[in-house]
Amino acid sequence: MSAARTPAATRNAANPANDRFARPLVSLHWIIAIIPIAMLCTGFYMGSLPRGLPFKSTLVNFHKSLGITIFLLVLLHIWARLAYGRPPLPPMQTWQRAAASITQALLYVGMVGMPLSGYLGSSFNKFGTKFWVLPLPQWGWDDKGLRHTFFTIHEYLAWMMIALHFLGALKHQLIDRDGLLRRMWP
Ligand code: HEM
Repeated sequence: MSAARTPAATRNAANPANDRFARPLVSLHWIIAIIPIAMLCTGFYMGSLPRGLPFKSTLVNFHKSLGITIFLLVLLHIWARLAYGRPPLPPMQTWQRAAASITQALLYVGMVGMPLSGYLGSSFNKFGTKFWVLPLPQWGWDDKGLRHTFFTIHEYLAWMMIALHFLGALKHQLIDRDGLLRRMWP
């Protein structure tokens, strides 16, 4: 994204590590970062609960509604990212630049793929999906195989997101010490 299209991204020519993402992107990032922590906790916790427990269905419905909410926020984030761009990366080697692009692409795959795979898995289930109080159209059918496939993708993507975020953040903070985390600090 060119600088001309990124008026809200703060630039610092003397020290690129001090460049910051645009405010709306920082706010959206932290909303989108905090909600998935709740999603991961409820997701793993509800898997550990016995079938038929009324509290489990309440939690599953909460998880689904919050997940769809995240999906809408992610779409807003993608729009904001395209509109505002991002500050340039600090100077780094070509392979690091390539690794950064691949990681970023995988994060977007996760941000879109997580809610989508959860929704698709839930659609091939006789219970259907409610978005808070609004029952969504039930277009899928009860199919154990498809459900299993989508929920396996859902689970793998969850681990991929955890690994990417935490390992990446730790690497920048502790090994590279390049201040990259400051760019996304609220
Ligand atoms: C960012 C969004 C989301 C995150 C981070 C997330 C995270 C998780 C995690 C960590 C699990 C446990 C995986 C396992 O151990 O098998 C899970 C399970 C589940 N998620 Fe999500 N989820 C998200 C969105 C959604 C959405 C949008 C839906 C449905 C509309 C959904 C429906 C489910 C269901 C039904 C399960 C239980 C799957 C099973 O029975 O094996 N999730 N989720």
